[in-house]
Amino acid sequence: MPENTLSIVAIVPAAGVGSRMQADRPKQYLTLQNKTILEHTVHQLLAHPLIHRVIIALSEQDPYFDSLPLSNDPRVTRVCGGKERADSVLSGLNAVVEPHNTFALVHDAARPNVSHQDISRLIDTGVKHPVGAILASPVKDTMKRSNMSGEITQTVDREKLWHALTPQLFNAEQLKMALEHGLKTGAVITDEASAMENIDRFPSIVAGRSDNIKVTSPEDLELMTFYLSKRDFQETTDV
Ligand code: C5P
Repeated sequence: MPENTLSIVAIVPAAGVGSRMQADRPKQYLTLQNKTILEHTVHQLLAHPLIHRVIIALSEQDPYFDSLPLSNDPRVTRVCGGKERADSVLSGLNAVVEPHNTFALVHDAARPNVSHQDISRLIDTGVKHPVGAILASPVKDTMKRSNMSGEITQTVDREKLWHALTPQLFNAEQLKMALEHGLKTGAVITDEASAMENIDRFPSIVAGRSDNIKVTSPEDLELMTFYLSKRDFQETTDV
């Protein structure tokens, strides 16, 4: 599809509480390098030449978003998130005006270090593939399965095993149908690809950078601060 006819809307689920971070606020509102993690993430998406609109799903009682300059950006739409991540993404998809002709690029609020090269490669593959595509990084460690008492029961073959990352790119209408079906039938939906897999639609994998980490626990903050300072430095020296 020629780039000038492509309609891509980014959807950022940001309605989680992030309890594993043990902070006084949801992790997307922690400040790193003078900006909240949510602002880093949304600015990085909007700086990509093919992304002109971002829909952010926030928790109903979110007391933080309105104080961010982002809340006045005309390219940003706020919607109410839901109980699970899938509910929040679905709520974002419901705000897409023409889902039939639009690709939804869904990206975790807590992954501010996504690179523009990875976004471009994802879009390139995802728009051509009949189902869509996701960014993923190959598993490097030896993988173990354990029982309920924490004893190893199996070493899992890591060949062709991937960490599913975001963004994930799908036709907005197809993703909406898949999420609605998954939520209605009680399927386990932890990312957009799993909603598609659940209806026997199998997206493509695009190998992405392993530094596109999801900020989850306190030790991730130091690493993310380093990545973001490196990126800021590159941007300053690139001009
Ligand atoms: O909790 P976890 O890190 O897996 O969440 C991934 C993303 O989904 C986060 O950006 C979080 O804010 C979002 N989320 C959401 N609605 C929920 C749960 C999580 O938007 N109910």
